Amino acid sequence: MPWTRQHLLTIEELARAEIEQILATAAAFKAVLGRKVKKVPALRGKTVVNLFLEPSTRTRLSFEMAAKLLSADVISFDADRSSTTKGESLRDTAQNIQALNADMIVLRHSAGGSPLYLSKLLHIPVVNAGDGAHEHPTQALLDVFTMREKLGDLRGRKVVILGDILFSRVARSNIHALTKLGADVTVVGPATLVPLWFRALGVRVSHELRSALADADVVMLLRIQHERQAAGHFPSVGEYTSMFGLNKTRAAWLKPDAIIMHPGPINRGVEIDSELADSGRSVILQQVTNGIAVRMACLYLCAGGQPEHVLAPV
Ligand code: CP
Repeated sequence: MPWTRQHLLTIEELARAEIEQILATAAAFKAVLGRKVKKVPALRGKTVVNLFLEPSTRTRLSFEMAAKLLSADVISFDADRSSTTKGESLRDTAQNIQALNADMIVLRHSAGGSPLYLSKLLHIPVVNAGDGAHEHPTQALLDVFTMREKLGDLRGRKVVILGDILFSRVARSNIHALTKLGADVTVVGPATLVPLWFRALGVRVSHELRSALADADVVMLLRIQHERQAAGHFPSVGEYTSMFGLNKTRAAWLKPDAIIMHPGPINRGVEIDSELADSGRSVILQQVTNGIAVRMACLYLCAGGQPEHVLAPV
């Protein structure tokens, strides 16, 4: 089946077969990254603009590395020194980037739906690098890629997503990706951050940590998204940690081979203790590494590449 999408906006809109195509393409790029010459000419002559209007470390740097490894020219937009500080709108900023002959925009923005908006406005591909509390598709893709490396087929595997589910784009994208790949997902946390209506997305909702962790193959921790919460959803950070933080005692409730994931940034001592974040069962840094190959796949496919034509090194 050929890849037909110009944009990568959400996991929700992808069919399982499309997720499989991205993961297979990422696996091919990961093999290329293991070679002496890591660069491929797939995007030679193209310019990718990273339009990040919200802070980022992992996503921005790995999109930049991915584009460079595909031989694209990359421009990382400096929001603090741009005309957005003078009131220029997203629409005008993006149209000017297109007028400068950019070939692709990678967008991070605090407004959910902003990548969809740009995809309708522009004629160049738009890749969503996180839009508000809506979706973070490439994060979920690198998460399921990492889980499959560790666990194989995800059908029937039990994945617990623990933390601030309500305000998390990572949770939403992972719920869509994991349920499409046949995993059994439970979302866990305080009732104010894990409302029962998440059941409509095909997941279990739990507010009781011990029973949820007992049969998990994966526990994915999320930080509290203070920047998106208009009001307190729990009495204090200390109280959250005392009820839901993953510490050594609670990690003992997990099966011995269960893996610990986190999309980052980590708040050590809040949602996860340092000794667990740095332990042998943590795959947090493998997630970051896999982000390069997964983002290479997303850029390559949206630029018109086909999964079966992943190119040889330069
Ligand atoms: N996981 C993630 O999106 O991290 P950054 O905000 O650092 O990109």
